[in-house]
Amino acid sequence: MLRFVMAWALAFMLAGTAFVLSGGAVAAAGVELTDAFMNDPDNIALGKKLFAKQCARCHGRKAYPGKAPKLKEKTYKPEFVYKRITKGFRGMPAWKSRYNEKQRKSLTAYIMSKDFTN
Ligand code: HEC
Repeated sequence: MLRFVMAWALAFMLAGTAFVLSGGAVAAAGVELTDAFMNDPDNIALGKKLFAKQCARCHGRKAYPGKAPKLKEKTYKPEFVYKRITKGFRGMPAWKSRYNEKQRKSLTAYIMSKDFTN
């Protein structure tokens, strides 16, 4: 009987650990940027619209020189772009409170797409 109870207790502990670990992994990765989402023309179009409205004044070709670096999209991983957009970094504002997750993912899809210019 005691052995049975201990086996159960152990099983619960292991399940709990696995739960905590998987929860942490999901939180660290943030969101899923699937190929299906990244390649969807509607998402790319939404990102393009938002970029023109909000990002080009700092990142665009016509931006005041020195406002922000030219984006080197070929060197980025999508997760990096999404993280910078969401959380900001030094002179780069965070957009989490302005744009919802889909909009931030769409901006990422546009920047990573072949349509992107800046
Ligand atoms: C107020 C000016 C400003 C606006 C508006 C702005 N950014 Fe930025 N952004 C910056 C600056 C400055 C940096 C560089 C931060 C650093 O690395 O010190 C930056 C960095 C970035 C980076 C990382 C570039 C790299 O190579 O490290 C990305 C991606 C980015 N911005 C995307 C965007 C998007 C998308 C928008 C529109 C939602 C946007 N930015 C709007 C100023 C701006």
